[in-house]
Order: sequence, then C-alpha cells, then structure tokens
Amino acid sequence: MLAIISDIHANTEALTAVLEDIASHQITRIICLGDVVGYGPNPRECLDMIMAKATVSLMGNHDFAVLYEPARFNIGAEMACFWARRQLETEEDHAKYSARWDFLGTLPVKYNMSGEDVGMGDLVFVHGSPRRPISEYIFPDDVYNSPHKVTGLFDRFSHLCFAGHSHVPGVFLETPDFYSPSELEGVFEVTSRKALINVGSVGQPRDRDNRASYVIVEPGAVRFIRVPYDFEATTKKVYAIDDLDDYLGTRLKEGRFVIPDFQREFEWKPWDIKDLMRSIFLDYYIGSTTQPFNERAGLFTWEAEAGEATSLVRHQIVRFCNVLMRARALDGDVPVDHPYFTQLDAYVGWQKIHACPGPIE
Ligand SMILES: [Fe+2]
Repeated sequence: MLAIISDIHANTEALTAVLEDIASHQITRIICLGDVVGYGPNPRECLDMIMAKATVSLMGNHDFAVLYEPARFNIGAEMACFWARRQLETEEDHAKYSARWDFLGTLPVKYNMSGEDVGMGDLVFVHGSPRRPISEYIFPDDVYNSPHKVTGLFDRFSHLCFAGHSHVPGVFLETPDFYSPSELEGVFEVTSRKALINVGSVGQPRDRDNRASYVIVEPGAVRFIRVPYDFEATTKKVYAIDDLDDYLGTRLKEGRFVIPDFQREFEWKPWDIKDLMRSIFLDYYIGSTTQPFNERAGLFTWEAEAGEATSLVRHQIVRFCNVLMRARALDGDVPVDHPYFTQLDAYVGWQKIHACPGPIE
C-alpha cells in the first residue's frame, strides 16, 4: 500500500504525527508531492525526515522558491521563503548542508507509476496540476467557475492523478465534479473512471479542519486520513521567529486561509484593486495563469464570510469577479449564459441603486 503526503511546510509536529500514523499501517512506499519547506519553522528537520522516509518526493512551488526564486508570493510567504533559505545556507554540518541542497536541486516535477498491484491503472503524481506540475492550482470552485479548465486536465492522465498545492483534500471527477472527503465518508472507491485526487496538506490544512491530512492508496480505494497534532507547539515556534509572520501560526489553529494584516491593508484600497485587475487581464491575455484570480478571490471570499466586508469591499469583489468572468466568457472558457452573469448584473444594479461607493474603473 502507498501513502501519499503533500505540503508539509516545515511543520515537524504535523509530519511526525503523520509518519507515526503511516507506520501503524502496512505501507510499503511514501510519495511526497512537494512543498516540504516554506511557511513553517522547521525546514531543516522536515527535509531530513522526508529524505529518510519518502520513496519519491516532487518539486513544490515553495521548494522551487527556496532553491531558485519565489514567484507570485505574498510578502509573508516571500519572507518565510528567504528565511528558510538562510536556515539551509547557515547549516554548519557540511554533509547535511550538501544533502539538503542536492535533494532540493534534483526533485522531479512529475512521477508516474503503475497502479497494478492495487488494482488500478496508471498513477500520475504532481504538486500542482498535470498541466503545470509546480504551480497550477485546482480549487473545488473551479468546477463551477472554470469547468473547461478542470475537464481539460483530465486529458493529461489515463486513470488517477494525485496532487496537492491547494491544501484542500478531495476528489475531482471529469463531469466536472468535486467531492470532499466528508461527502465520500473518507473513502473514494476507485472504478474505471478517471479521478484527480487532492491529498490535502500535512502541515497547513485549509479546509477548516486543523488536523494533518494525507491519503492511503489500498486495493480498489483511496482512503483520506486526518491526524491530530500539537499545532499549538508549531504556532508558538512561528510566533517566536521574526521573519515568519504571525498569521502563518494563526492559520494552523484555524485550519484555513487566514488573511495577513498587511494584505488586508493592501487589498482594501481601490487603486490597488485596479492594478490587480490590470495584472489579471495581462496574465489572462498572455495565457499565463488564473492563479492570481483564484488566490485573490479566495481572500475576498473569506473576508466576506467573516462578516467583515464593507459595502465598498463587497462592491470591489463583484467588480473584480465580473471583469474576470467576462474575460473568460469572451474566450469561451465560461458560457455567457452562465447564471453567474445574471446574478452579478442584479447585484451590481442593486449596488448602484443603494449608492454604494463608486466603481473602481
Ligand atoms: Fe503548499
């Protein structure tokens, strides 16, 4: 049987708990989908543990950032990345220094294996997506907001694909559809249908469950596992390190995306939103990525859910989503008769009638 782990994020407490849990099952191989480092307080220790225990480990965007350069990171993530790099660079034990850098420098971006011994077809492993293995996010709401993106990903593997990166566990089907582990009662029964399975995050879950997440592949099924760990110990370590912003500790307790204060300041200014939309248009038209939209829309959603959004911010959210959805519709990615547009038009109309602070274009 296989254990698949991902997104450890330098959290030794979570990784130790998961490895102990794995040891209690009959696991023959551990596959790590990347992001061993970044965000958390123990990059050295986590690298050593993964090097010792994982049969295969892939390159995540944070591993890439520590090794080369961060791309599209927020300030907190970037500071954490440079801090992690310093931890590796200041190691005095030469053997450990070399082993860790060699490991990071030779991580593959994709791994394939036969699933024959567990009664499955070919298995593909990536950090992000089978199209952009290091960086592309696949979020549950892509099923509604970007269905062609999800279905397009299924052309790139023949039976099962395992990914991490979003820190949200669950199963995507080609329909497209998404099922959370709780909807599946913890077990996905594998059939001949293709499935893209997100294994969740060991060291920084974001599905409102603060327990470490991983999966076990057993004959005919994929089992989602949650393991409680001492997140308070990890949080204390984060709080004690100046270069790791406190929100990186707070979100461990919450098990979700917590907005750092500096981003809160940044996002609520209309002129920043305008710049943001420009950059999204640019990204979109040069065909690069929808990642900024997903991340930023995610932040806005959390803010609105927390009941903290002012009418101005709500207005910005709508404008922001509207612009991107229309851009996607122009390109055929989202059908123009999608109910989203009718709802948006109604909402924007309501905002105008109620003299919401001005639009941002
Ligand atoms: Fe990650």
